[in-house]
Amino acid sequence: MCSIIAYLGLSPAAPIIVKGLKRMEYRGYDSVGVATFSNNQILVRKGVGKVLEVNKIAKLDELSGTVGIGHTRWATHGGVTETNAHPHPSSAGEIAIVHNGIIQNHEELKKELQQKGYMFKSQTDSEVISNLLQYHYDKVKEIKKAVLATVSELKGDYAFAAVFEDGTLAAARLHEPLIIGIGKDGYFISSDVLGFVEHTDEVIYLDNKEFVIINNSGIKVFDFDAKPVQHKITKVSKEFADAYKGDYAHFTLKEISEQPATIPNASNSTRLELDLATDFVKHAKTLYITGSGTSYNAALIAKFLFSKYAKIKIEPIISSEVQFSPNMFEQQSILIALSQSGESADVLEAVKIAKDAGAKIISIVNMMTSSLVHLSSISIGLNCGPEIGVAATKSFTSQLTVLYKIVDKICGNCIGLDLNKVSESITKILSDHSGIQEIARKLKDISDIYVLGRGIHYPIASEASLKLKELTYIHAEGLPGGELKHGPLALMDSNTYVIMINPNDSTYSDTLTSAQEIKARGAKIIGISDKPSDVYDYWVEIPQVDESVYPIIEIVPVQLLAYYAALEKDTDPDYPRNLAKSVTVK
Ligand code: G6P
Repeated sequence: MCSIIAYLGLSPAAPIIVKGLKRMEYRGYDSVGVATFSNNQILVRKGVGKVLEVNKIAKLDELSGTVGIGHTRWATHGGVTETNAHPHPSSAGEIAIVHNGIIQNHEELKKELQQKGYMFKSQTDSEVISNLLQYHYDKVKEIKKAVLATVSELKGDYAFAAVFEDGTLAAARLHEPLIIGIGKDGYFISSDVLGFVEHTDEVIYLDNKEFVIINNSGIKVFDFDAKPVQHKITKVSKEFADAYKGDYAHFTLKEISEQPATIPNASNSTRLELDLATDFVKHAKTLYITGSGTSYNAALIAKFLFSKYAKIKIEPIISSEVQFSPNMFEQQSILIALSQSGESADVLEAVKIAKDAGAKIISIVNMMTSSLVHLSSISIGLNCGPEIGVAATKSFTSQLTVLYKIVDKICGNCIGLDLNKVSESITKILSDHSGIQEIARKLKDISDIYVLGRGIHYPIASEASLKLKELTYIHAEGLPGGELKHGPLALMDSNTYVIMINPNDSTYSDTLTSAQEIKARGAKIIGISDKPSDVYDYWVEIPQVDESVYPIIEIVPVQLLAYYAALEKDTDPDYPRNLAKSVTVK
């Protein structure tokens, strides 16, 4: 989703900003722009496309000045056009802003400002911020007062950074992240630590309803009541610096390959929280689990684990659907929120609804500095390092691992979870990609693929189909095996491929029967199993493991298949079209 970066210091700002934007590309975007302050004026350059493409044409990094702001935009209000790209200058051109989030009352504000003579060029909600700042600045001639007056009028969720014609930077946040970096020769403001981590690991996390003013005499933070705020400088983990592809062609492949190491690491830095969470869950009156996308698929797996091993009922609910189920939560309800980023707006909204009803929140999250962590009673870290590829891979298996750990604790170690064995099995799957690459070549020209699984393997089938959709743009659908004859069988013919998630457990023979029924209609069968069968046109072998942990390992070959099929189709596996890594708008 959109990214913000700003810099004020001794070095030329534009190259630093462009590099920062490049680093945050993984968040997903469609246009890019930079504004700098130079020779008492604000210069703006922007365009549609990837950072390097736009930079080649618009020479963003050649803008002069040592103060500037930059942005990658993921369109919400207004189409993908150069005019709608950020930064947006005020109509007088004395202030320019970049913005993440949504200004809900932009239409009213725009009308009022237009009546006062301020002009608008774009169709965005964001442009009201620059003109509103300009309006207040014209009145009070003081940046702090202008920012305060502006935030008191804006409604919605936002983070914005502004550069003023005197070379001052200002930035404010309301429910959207904003982080300040304190470098040796300059200050940074960004929506993501990755935007500046190569320059400094010393940061200040702005709290909600705070703003910062940075100029050559230093940095000042205030809350929305104008009170000065003192923040401690924290050091971000050096792991952020690992967010490079290394020898891998893509982040997605790197992250798939890291799973033998990330799985045993899940929750290790938050052992105490794991114990506490287990206790909370045991004493919950009613128990819910929520997430979006991949995280929701992990929530579905939890339903099976909790009922089978812990004998506890847990209700999974898609985060964006929570608002339509009023009165779901009560005092002593527990909501487990799953999120890699901890910033998905749908998840945060679900959590707020649950909290308002008196529920307690346990979050299972990778970004321990995220908004979700701030909203939770207990947060358990996935601890799997930055995940840059838009399609979640290692965070999914880490989420499963944490859920297994909780369940295993509750049932007195009845699963006997052996993460080293799980990790060894995944290493085996990853040791030879050739078979999967061969199947990927077959998928190049197909338009539909189905993934079938029964019981706990059905959510894995859904996750597998999500990976295929995201990475290859092939229509993919996860099916519960038993439902085949209730409709989907009508779709099976010789143009169809079906992946069977079929480990040798209690679901095995029923799933094999489904495979035969599908094969009889001419479809091609890809079997993911530890047991070979003649019914499979392609057999992807997985190691035999304890029945309970098949779900953690069986998703890995499909992650690889989706990755290689994306290469065959010439799509970008790290940055699928139209998608964003962390969807911070509803
Ligand atoms: C976006 C991403 C998905 C991800 C989902 C939830 O839609 O494209 O890959 O699964 O958000 O993200 P979260 O960070 O909350 O787990």
